[in-house]
Amino acid sequence: MTKIRNSFICSHCGATYPQTYGRCPNCQAWNSLVEQTPSNQRLPKSLTRTSQTLEEIEEQTFRHLASSYQELDRVLGGGIVPGSLVLIGGEPGIGKSTLLLQVANRLGQEHRVLYVCAEESAQQVKLRSQRLGMTPAPPELYLLAETDLEVVLQELQTLQPRLAVIDSIQALTWASLSSTAGSVTQVRECTAALMRLAKQAHITLFIVGHVTKEGSLAGPKVLEHLVDTVLYFEGDRFANYRLLRSVKNRFGATHELGVFEMLPNGLEEVRDLAGVFLGNRKDPSPGIATIVTCEGSRPLVLEVQALVSPTSYPSPRRSTTGVEYNRLLQILAVLEKRLGIPLSKLDAYVASCAGIQVEEPAADLGIAVAVTASFRDQVVDPQTVVLGEVGLGGQIRPVSRLDLRLKEAEKLGFKRAIIPAGQEWSSSLGLEVTEASRVLEALTSLGRRPETGS
Ligand SMILES: Nc1ncnc2c1ncn2[C@@H]1O[C@H](COP(=O)(O)OP(=O)(O)OP(=O)(O)O)[C@@H](O)[C@H]1O
Ligand SMILES: [Mg+2]
Repeated sequence: MTKIRNSFICSHCGATYPQTYGRCPNCQAWNSLVEQTPSNQRLPKSLTRTSQTLEEIEEQTFRHLASSYQELDRVLGGGIVPGSLVLIGGEPGIGKSTLLLQVANRLGQEHRVLYVCAEESAQQVKLRSQRLGMTPAPPELYLLAETDLEVVLQELQTLQPRLAVIDSIQALTWASLSSTAGSVTQVRECTAALMRLAKQAHITLFIVGHVTKEGSLAGPKVLEHLVDTVLYFEGDRFANYRLLRSVKNRFGATHELGVFEMLPNGLEEVRDLAGVFLGNRKDPSPGIATIVTCEGSRPLVLEVQALVSPTSYPSPRRSTTGVEYNRLLQILAVLEKRLGIPLSKLDAYVASCAGIQVEEPAADLGIAVAVTASFRDQVVDPQTVVLGEVGLGGQIRPVSRLDLRLKEAEKLGFKRAIIPAGQEWSSSLGLEVTEASRVLEALTSLGRRPETGS
């Protein structure tokens, strides 16, 4: 008989190996390999077929549960899917607990909801509920201030809620595991145990997860594989707007965007984004360009600001807010090499309006225009939007969903758009569209208009 050997799985990245290592050869995480015992049940015991064809599988119809927040429902793909597992990550203090308590409040009017506050006392949550104006208290909302996973599982079984919120997974511990709360093993095992129960009892779970300094979810990568949906709640803590983004969704499109505003009495939905991320259009300053990013199905018109100034450091400073740091470095290098702007002797600061995270390459041209305009101390026409990805050779590459972006710009009253050369757009738009194949060409056509002030 063939001897079945144990294998080792990395609890961080999920890679498997026939032997153990101190450091995972794949993701380089230390002490992350855990032994897996192959189950004998996997060996065929009988010759009866247990698999089914798609035809044979019984169809299950389910109805989305409306959270009564349209912004959240859209990000989730049309509403809360019963029995699904949703992981919500976000920086400390961004408003994860506020959002989920508000959702629990609305749902708790009709459905049974359990809110596990593992990080805060029940009194703290009650105080927050009062600030959020949750009076009278929702009759079906139950609070449990507990960090012990077994107690939480027990309560879930006893209460059988429709929805449960775990705030947060890093604060839960499973006593039978020797590792400390928040460790990779604890987070993974606690989530897996919660998932097993939730799927079996058909409970929808919202799990709050901490993020690392780099902004990704803390804990093992396998966590994101385990759950159905991964959402990020983000924004500048010092500005009021908060963005809810889906990065993984088994029930809907990813990169959908929901926008909220943090007000003294809680989070409010922002349904109309018109002009929310635009600064003073009447008195524009130098070094500002307007871009249209496209998050999921939702275009977002926003400003990118740049400031370049002579450096007083041995190596120049680069700083970004909302814009990817390495992307900026690449654009600066292109501008230096292709346009001869001596940026290696200048500090460069680039920020998006309200710190909104701009990850799309379609924002490249806007960043390049803002940096160049700041260098030349020019005002870019505030009625113009700039769209395009910038290649290393200074060429402008096409962007996705061009029509959708242009329509949004037109809706907001923009008069002109600079777009990548050769890309088709709907000619019925009331915008003056200028095509550019290189960054230099885009800058020249921007400067050609006398009313631009440049
Ligand atoms: N009295 C208040 N008035 C206005 N806003 C408040 C008030 N109290 C808290 N807030 C807002 O709520 C935010 C805290 O929200 P919340 O506790 O939901 O964040 P969190 O993401 O759960 O944080 P953590 O990761 O620490 O649990 C604060 O950053 C602040 O913006
Ligand atoms: Mg919290």
